[in-house]
Amino acid sequence: MDVRSSPEQKVRAGEITGGVGQAVPHDSSHLHVSGEALYTDDIPEPRGLLHLAVGMSMRAHAKIRQLDLRAVREAPGVLEVMIADDIPGENNCGPVVADDPILAPGIVQYVGQALFSVAASTVEQARKAARLAHIEYEELQPILDPLTAVEAGLFVLPTQTLKRGDSRAAIANAQHRLRGRTGVGGQDQFYLEGQIAMALPGEDGSLFIYSSTQHPGEVQHLAAAAIGKHFKDVVVECRRMGGAFGGKESQPALIACIAALMAQRTGRACKLRLDRDDDMIMTGKRHDFVIDYEVGFDDTGRIHGIEFMLASRCGMSADLSGAINDRAMFHCDNAYYLENVSIVSHRCKTHTVSNTAFRGFGGPQGMFAIEYVVDEIARYLHLDALAVRRRNFYGKGERNVTPYLQTVEDNILEPIVDRLEKTSEYRKRVEEIRRFNRGSPVLKRGIALTPVKFGISFTATHLNQAGALLHVYTDGTVHINHGGTEMGQGLFTKVAQVVAEELQIDLDRIRITASDTSKVPNASATAASSGSDLNGKAAQAAARKIRKRLIRFACERFSVPEDQVEFHNNQVRIGNETMGFGELVFLAWFARTSLSATGFYRTPKINYDRATFSGRPFFYYAYGAAVSEAIVDTLTGEYRLLRVDILHDCGKSLNPAIDMGQIEGGFVQGTGWLTSEELWWTAEGELKTHAPSTYKIPTCSDLAVDFRVEMLESAANQENTIYRSKAVGEPPLMLSLSVFHAIRDAIASVDDYRTIPRLRAPATPEAVLAAIEAVRNGGAA
Ligand code: MTE
Ligand code: MOS
Repeated sequence: MDVRSSPEQKVRAGEITGGVGQAVPHDSSHLHVSGEALYTDDIPEPRGLLHLAVGMSMRAHAKIRQLDLRAVREAPGVLEVMIADDIPGENNCGPVVADDPILAPGIVQYVGQALFSVAASTVEQARKAARLAHIEYEELQPILDPLTAVEAGLFVLPTQTLKRGDSRAAIANAQHRLRGRTGVGGQDQFYLEGQIAMALPGEDGSLFIYSSTQHPGEVQHLAAAAIGKHFKDVVVECRRMGGAFGGKESQPALIACIAALMAQRTGRACKLRLDRDDDMIMTGKRHDFVIDYEVGFDDTGRIHGIEFMLASRCGMSADLSGAINDRAMFHCDNAYYLENVSIVSHRCKTHTVSNTAFRGFGGPQGMFAIEYVVDEIARYLHLDALAVRRRNFYGKGERNVTPYLQTVEDNILEPIVDRLEKTSEYRKRVEEIRRFNRGSPVLKRGIALTPVKFGISFTATHLNQAGALLHVYTDGTVHINHGGTEMGQGLFTKVAQVVAEELQIDLDRIRITASDTSKVPNASATAASSGSDLNGKAAQAAARKIRKRLIRFACERFSVPEDQVEFHNNQVRIGNETMGFGELVFLAWFARTSLSATGFYRTPKINYDRATFSGRPFFYYAYGAAVSEAIVDTLTGEYRLLRVDILHDCGKSLNPAIDMGQIEGGFVQGTGWLTSEELWWTAEGELKTHAPSTYKIPTCSDLAVDFRVEMLESAANQENTIYRSKAVGEPPLMLSLSVFHAIRDAIASVDDYRTIPRLRAPATPEAVLAAIEAVRNGGAA
């Protein structure tokens, strides 16, 4: 069956199929559902393949007194064992700072840290052997939470401060003041395909690596350094990931380096695939944050001064924590104008796994902080929370400069919230819910509307670049490659749609191929939601080069001026004649025209000075808003989502079907973060929630009974992005803040909204029950 010609897609007569703006299915959807899509573990195994396993630390912080691997080496099927000393090159897989050993050299800093690797004939043999090590530890004092790290002054990177105006004075002079502490938990990415890499030694010291990674270039660089070679010696390929969510931005390097090292040492192909438990123990997650706030505001709820102290759990190394915590600081405003503000951000070193990217990249934690405070203000003043939110919204032409001094030029908060307030019947339902709660002693309902404003671009300016490689074959079909990676988000489909549109050929004439460091070099990670913004533009540039060459050829051959050559619906009109795209291509080739081109793009306008935390880190903002309604059982703390209304801004969507999936998926994933997903460590720093039995991601039955998602229509990006679309990968996750606040609203009703409920995220039933009991006791915890 050709799923691409399914009836939902809106193809106008005389138009190509699969052009920009059409709701075509994901290019691999038919392969995903039939099980035919090749993930790294499905690639036919090369002859003589060795399977790897990792020996892990069982202590959070210790010196290794003795690492006795005799039993491991002698175990059935084992061919080779490697420790830190066996690494010929650099023993590091840290993406920014070289503080992340591949194999721990004598000192371990978290439970699960890799100490050695084993190669055996089968997966089972390797995994069994890895457990036979005899390790003697000399225990060192572990630091296991951010606040203890702050006290001890233990940080992976220096503390940063962002200040504008005089927050001290503004708070002191305000009519009202509130201060407090809250917090938000971490989150495991829970991609369905676990971390995996397969390394194949080639001739003359070269190496080919299949890696499930958002960043093939970084895997190439780190693996090359580990084996003591140059970047030219290593090629990394990734056709697709079975989900990544930020968890495969830096983390795959560890897996790939271990495979590369063993492949080099044994001269045989080596595959390392972590099992789920080990994956959850060994690899980084979303940072949990402790948030202290102090705010001064007036009777209307307008904020005059605010101060935040953010302390995040970075784990044992820097990883991407610098940029993640920067983004948290940049999103402590969310949709609100903060005139006098001070944000202190501690990047705490803890003896736990090094935390990493997760959809939103620190932004969600920053937005959690401000939304918590705004909600707090509304409850304190007994004002409608939406009214307080509106009172603080960024203005147009005034009150529109962020704490980091970027002017918000594209503000569409008001129209989004106005529309959603109406379509969701917010006002009416607030009244209805209050009435219901007065008459319902056990079940309590709550509602909240929260906005999203999310900055698009990598905050590290140099990463905002992309390349593409496009070949046109003589039959008029196309092979497109770009530096982006596919993790289910539909990037490959969108980029192919751009090429289809530019060349005016049907989408099924375009072959979308794997990301490959030997085709497009030096690519950034596919992250920061900017995959289609960057790679779409790079592919467009490549396609336009080819089109130009074809036009020039046609002009010469048929003696027509340039404006007489027009590409439309698989055909090319040249003067009064029309021929198929493939026909023109063939003629051009025959006349010796180059039909292969590279494209390059760099995001314009952005600049940002990290030393002063000011400038324009973001090309534009993506907006949205959500209304959630929850019902809470006050006897058990359990809750259900009754209804969710979302209105989200995708600019002019490149593909409404894919964007809709991103909005729904992002929202549900965020809801998991804020409600059911809880990471739990023992007092010894051992993660106990390392499988779905104890770590609860949302299931279908957790969806809102009534789930209404809409995309903002005719909302062209005011910046010149690819076909005026907007990035959509991460922003919708933060729509889920409405769920947290709906639950908080339901809890507040327990004593008729007199006490402000203290509630940290995740709002698990246990946490909700505790908050309810505290409210019943007049706020005393
Ligand atoms: N959607 C799916 N299905 N799977 C994923 O792993 N990752 C998210 C988001 N949507 C992800 C996803 C994250 S963290 C990012 S940064 C973006 O997709 C990356 O892709 P994009 O830049 O092409 O949107
Ligand atoms: Mo996404 S967290 O930027 O990979």
